[in-house]
Amino acid sequence: MDTNTLTGLKSAFQVAPSDELAKVICFALIESGEESEIALYLQQAQKTLDESESLKLAEALYQAELHETARNVLSEELLSHKILVAKCLNESGEPEQARKLYCSAIEADSSLESHALNRTFNVEVKVAQINNDDKPKLKVVEKMDLASVTDMVRYRQDTSDFSDVVGLEHIKKQISKKIIMPFQRPSLFQKFKKKVGGGVILYGPPGCGKTLLARATAGECKASFFNIEISDVLDMYIGESEQKLHTIFEKARSSTPCVLFFDEIEALAGKREHSRNSSSANVVSQFLTELDGFSQNNEGVLVLASTNVPWAVDAAFLRPGRFDRMFFVPPPDKVARKAILEHHIKGRPAESNIDFSSIASKATGYSGADLYNLVEMAADEAIDESIEAGNEVVISNQHFKNAIKEARSTTTEWLTTARNYARYANEGGRYDEVLSFLKKHGK
Ligand SMILES: Nc1ncnc2c1ncn2[C@@H]1O[C@H](COP(=O)(O)OP(=O)(O)O)[C@@H](O)[C@H]1O
Ligand SMILES: [Mg+2]
Repeated sequence: MDTNTLTGLKSAFQVAPSDELAKVICFALIESGEESEIALYLQQAQKTLDESESLKLAEALYQAELHETARNVLSEELLSHKILVAKCLNESGEPEQARKLYCSAIEADSSLESHALNRTFNVEVKVAQINNDDKPKLKVVEKMDLASVTDMVRYRQDTSDFSDVVGLEHIKKQISKKIIMPFQRPSLFQKFKKKVGGGVILYGPPGCGKTLLARATAGECKASFFNIEISDVLDMYIGESEQKLHTIFEKARSSTPCVLFFDEIEALAGKREHSRNSSSANVVSQFLTELDGFSQNNEGVLVLASTNVPWAVDAAFLRPGRFDRMFFVPPPDKVARKAILEHHIKGRPAESNIDFSSIASKATGYSGADLYNLVEMAADEAIDESIEAGNEVVISNQHFKNAIKEARSTTTEWLTTARNYARYANEGGRYDEVLSFLKKHGK
């Protein structure tokens, strides 16, 4: 269309403005590169534009850097318009909304994805794990940066300390020597050219104080302590868990000295041959890479982990430089059982002459958690009786006697399994501590 025709159209519009004419002028203005004038005709033209026409018009306006005008031509409800709306929003200073819109567009139609826009909005497109016959789902996630892991739980230094853990003196001493001291007297260790850091696994039957010990360690050492929830790391989206692990370790490396605590580590470090799918094997490999510190400097990062099933942990984790120390957290012996009972009765209304010694004798094989349970059951009995009697009945020996009939010990089964591993799969003396425990207790 030449200039004269365009001028003619404009004059015609002056005389008899019509929607159709406005539309013709708009496209003519694009052709002649006079996009800035489009705004004059837009309101009327818009009534006649269909989905693809308005997109075409908006694209021209966007190219001419008339972002807001372009935005007005578009409708974000239309899938075909979404990407361009997002670009316009981004240009007009609303990046957050823009990113959301872009994500919703490619979640609806993955072919709309573009690398350039992924970069612009700092997002990554992941393929969700494929469940049986489900089609893989796409998920768009914001790229993780260090700042977004600030929600890693950081224990305050006064949460608990070793006084909350009854007994286990031997292992407390080991922890002091190998974990707490290096953090408190780094210069001493430097002098002897000992590196501070590495990995320690606490293992033993459930309910015997592994988690308790780890938390108390946090209170004892004056280092930052991050409690990593395995469920926070594992993600149904392929590749995401590895990235999260990496981010967590990066965070740790930037806040030394610190302790990273992975409770029930077998969920993350399970034997690769047992894993159902390749993605959990990838998590294991990533974990190993992070531990190794070939490319990273792990100095000052101590990785503390706990597990009830050490034999399910991939042997690769136990090599030197990784989790090279394993501490056995045994079930409490009689003295410890008595002390644990006394610890948990504190602050509850109870008779002063309860024979904890004889209760502890009867409670062979009880874990700390079983003993805590026993105290709870005795307390329940006392409450029931109080309600029936109509006045307060304190916890007595009889309540414990009744309770112990119903309670049960949970460590025996674990010890039976452990004995088999200790006898037949004791590579590198890994379970020596279990063996000497069993020997000492005549099992
Ligand atoms: N040595 C202990 N001293 C005091 N309480 C204990 C001890 N061991 C276990 N308990 C009790 O049992 C509960 C469970 O212990 P936990 O540390 O979670 O066991 P796990 O070894 O399975 O991690 C604790 O919260 C605590 O009430
Ligand atoms: Mg635990």
